[in-house]
Amino acid sequence: MATNRTFTMVKPDAVADGHSGAILKMIEGAGFRIVAMKMVKLTKERAGQFYEVHKERPFYGSLCDYMSSGHIIAVILEKENAVADFRKLIGATNPADAADGTIRKLYAKSMESNAVHGSDSDENAAIEGSFYFADIEKF
Ligand code: RTP
Ligand code: MG
Repeated sequence: MATNRTFTMVKPDAVADGHSGAILKMIEGAGFRIVAMKMVKLTKERAGQFYEVHKERPFYGSLCDYMSSGHIIAVILEKENAVADFRKLIGATNPADAADGTIRKLYAKSMESNAVHGSDSDENAAIEGSFYFADIEKF
């Protein structure tokens, strides 16, 4: 994948609360182009695979329950400096620490139910994008 791409998920709390449209509008308004998008419901096992990097962390089981609790929207995004700019747009993991105007400040409910995911490196953006879009080379 090119280095100007990142991967996001609108997480179950934000989808269930009807914030998907507002969040996608903020993302597009910040200059990101939607390259691929789909709504899916993960099994707990599949959520566990996505977050396998966190499997030794104390919050892993709860995170897998949460991420499989409802539908999510998986999206590949394109923009110059996509990974870093998107992390800035979503704000800190804990909404209490998120800057004003960020997606998490506006829509996250807690450290866990924090509305959106954002890849933390170009390498992980490619891995995470292909987790949902097996035919990623088409996009
Ligand atoms: P993400 O991967 O979802 O974009 O979030 P992040 O980089 O800001 O945070 P990360 O450390 O990768 O954690 C992944 C997700 O796990 C949940 N979490 N819960 N209860 C806790 O202490 C805790 N810490 C993290 C959050 O849903 C977080 O986004
Ligand atoms: Mg992370």
